[in-house]
Amino acid sequence: MSVIVDVQELTKRYGGFLAVNKVSFAIEQGEIFGFLGPNGAGKTTCLEMMEGLRKPDGGKVLLKDISVWPEPAKVKNLIGVQLQSTSFYEELTVKEILVLFASLYGRKLSGRELDNLLSMAGLEEKRNAYTNSLSGGQKQRLAIITALVNEPEIIFLDEPTTGLDPQARRRSWEIIRELQGKGKTIILTTHYMEEAENLCERVAIIDQGKIVAIDQPQELIDQLGQKAKISFASSRPLASLFLAELGAEAGQVNSGEGQIVFTVDPAQTIGALLEKAKQEGIVIKNLHVSSPSLDDVFLSLTGKELRD
Ligand SMILES: Nc1ncnc2c1ncn2[C@@H]1O[C@H](COP(=O)(O)OP(=O)(O)OP(=O)(O)O)[C@@H](O)[C@H]1O
Ligand SMILES: [Mg+2]
Repeated sequence: MSVIVDVQELTKRYGGFLAVNKVSFAIEQGEIFGFLGPNGAGKTTCLEMMEGLRKPDGGKVLLKDISVWPEPAKVKNLIGVQLQSTSFYEELTVKEILVLFASLYGRKLSGRELDNLLSMAGLEEKRNAYTNSLSGGQKQRLAIITALVNEPEIIFLDEPTTGLDPQARRRSWEIIRELQGKGKTIILTTHYMEEAENLCERVAIIDQGKIVAIDQPQELIDQLGQKAKISFASSRPLASLFLAELGAEAGQVNSGEGQIVFTVDPAQTIGALLEKAKQEGIVIKNLHVSSPSLDDVFLSLTGKELRD
């Protein structure tokens, strides 16, 4: 495996506001790499600096050892880009859009290339349809394949599945995996935990312009060192009372919905929780036990919930 994307201390300011703060990471060829973070975290800004669309205030981006800055044109043929909000000319058909995008790279798509792209996106039947007649999911898939017309090695997808229903999202994941199967390197952003957990080999969790963690999703979850999450609502705050009794084995974070306790021994913790509640005359409702997820990693790193 070789490093194909190398980002060093990448920084962007908008006026006095630091949107991306000395971000560094490397991506191996053939990886699906995800940026996960809440609105305004700096994901798009970071991607756009890597794509040569937004000039950094500091740091470096090397794609296949070629520096993107100061001459982004040098990487134009190496990369494919799907922007966060893509709107197509409504008077053009799906086929015409693909031909147009290819022409921007000085390329002419053969009939076979066109067929391959359409079939990858499941849009064979829609080749002569106007883009304004496509469903949301079809438009997003068209946006993904427009990023492929120049046969790029590195593909940037900014929120490729936002707003899609779970089935349409899975269809897009299949396309992304198919691209990976062809040796492409994919860098995407997402708000969706399931997407990061299921699709990405590694994720960088980004918050307020900084990478707060970077690893394989399961590694990040394992690093929490917690086997189960217990959440509940109680008529009076309770967790801190009984956590003291359980000692170091449980950790607690307050969330909007109620109380959350992480524990390595859920049976013991629930027993202690219910007993304590009974003693104190506190009513416990909505008791849930679940395995930790990337959501919990985010919560434990930033003290915030990632969900919008
Ligand atoms: N052109 C701009 N001028 C000034 N501030 C900007 C500009 N573009 C982005 N910002 C600010 O920089 C921060 C990062 O924005 P960015 O678009 O990179 O976030 P994001 O992580 O992609 O968010 P989202 O999930 O909403 O797409 C935000 O606070 C945003 O308001
Ligand atoms: Mg964005």
